[in-house]
Amino acid sequence: MFVSPHLDINSLGHLTIGGEDTVELAERYGTPLYLMSEEELRDNCRQYRRSMEEFYGGRGLVAYASKALCCKAVCRLVAEEGLGLDVVSAGELYTARAAGVPGKRLILHGNNKTPDELAMALDYGVGRIVVDNLTELRLLDTMAAATGKRPGILLRVKPGIDAHTHSFIRTGQIDSKFGFALETGEAMAAVKEALAAKELELRGLHCHIGSQIFDIQPFCHAARVMLELMDSIRRATGTALPELDLGGGFGIPYIPDNDPVPYSRYMEEVSRTVKEFCGERDFPMPFVIIEPGRSIVGTAGVTLYRVGGVKEIPGVRTYVSVDGSMADAPRHALYQADYTFLAAARAGQPPARVVTVAGKCCESGDLLGENVPLQPVAPGDLVAMLSTGAYHYSMASNYNRIPRPAMVLVGEKGHRLIIRRETLEDLVRNDLD
Ligand code: LLP
Repeated sequence: MFVSPHLDINSLGHLTIGGEDTVELAERYGTPLYLMSEEELRDNCRQYRRSMEEFYGGRGLVAYASKALCCKAVCRLVAEEGLGLDVVSAGELYTARAAGVPGKRLILHGNNKTPDELAMALDYGVGRIVVDNLTELRLLDTMAAATGKRPGILLRVKPGIDAHTHSFIRTGQIDSKFGFALETGEAMAAVKEALAAKELELRGLHCHIGSQIFDIQPFCHAARVMLELMDSIRRATGTALPELDLGGGFGIPYIPDNDPVPYSRYMEEVSRTVKEFCGERDFPMPFVIIEPGRSIVGTAGVTLYRVGGVKEIPGVRTYVSVDGSMADAPRHALYQADYTFLAAARAGQPPARVVTVAGKCCESGDLLGENVPLQPVAPGDLVAMLSTGAYHYSMASNYNRIPRPAMVLVGEKGHRLIIRRETLEDLVRNDLD
């Protein structure tokens, strides 16, 4: 299927993931249900690692941005594939640690890390802390002095790139809460201060221009802008910073119209830009880090829902209501994101009509997809939503006191629960009388 080679349709016409029948999985584990294809996830990790080998001679690190989907099983699997992990909070750091990911392979992000988060990072020996602002730089310097540790840091820079994506997920432009601005001289001043901070080891710079980007050009542009800055830093201070982290953001297919370039192409083009620059300026080739999140787990995920009511409003639209909601799939409500839906038991048939898939929250905006083609469905049927591996479970909430769904990993050795379904008891666990 266009989303992933690990999705298919069996002889019964049922959607399969990793060879397993989704209709049977729904019977076994209930709905709503998040499914993850282990092979798709591993394949994505391997593609990135291979490209890192091929285009940078292995002098780089692929760090999975765990904000896309963070749980112990996924962190462990990604680490098994030799990737590092980007974490953005104490919770993600705790999960990575619980999964046994070595501190050295972790990168800690965040525009407002708390002292507790920084202390955790120092304690666990996080390999790189991406410093966002001067307050943090000074705090970390003081904290490092007290612990006797000398953490490796990168400075987050806004390269001034306006990538074509939804404004909420665009981060590289000057009006962004993340990082030091380039144009104003703020980034250069921060570099000088960081170089002077004795307790910190300034290894390099970081940028991230946004998410779900299909063009290669903005990534190449960002790389060049960052290298220009590294070259100016060398001229101003005599130090050639050895590392460049270019963030994540590569787009994935959600609907057939989406046509992402293979990740290896991004890697190849960006590496060409980096090599050309370094050749032209005689700048030492940096150790390159990338932080893909969505493109590691996104296409590996499918969510299964059970249809409740089908409401036809003549001349207006047909609502297909499912047992999930914006609480487990918030991206359409938040970003008007498009998705592909299939009737799991009739996935091979052509779509019968265009419908709106509605969630069960008490809110009109709780829609999972509007005007989407779908095979015929009746109450009790299963609907599969594709490409839900990234930013679904990780952004899920208990809005309307809805328990979060379970997640099942489907792999070569069969299927197993990796996140258990929340219970009603879980929902009141922290409530006090
Ligand atoms: N590195 C940094 C510093 C980031 O901020 C992000 C994403 C990534 C890497 C990974 O980007 P990816 O490869 O996944 O595009 N909730 C939004 C996406 C927000 C992305 C935030 N940062 C969505 O559902 O579209």
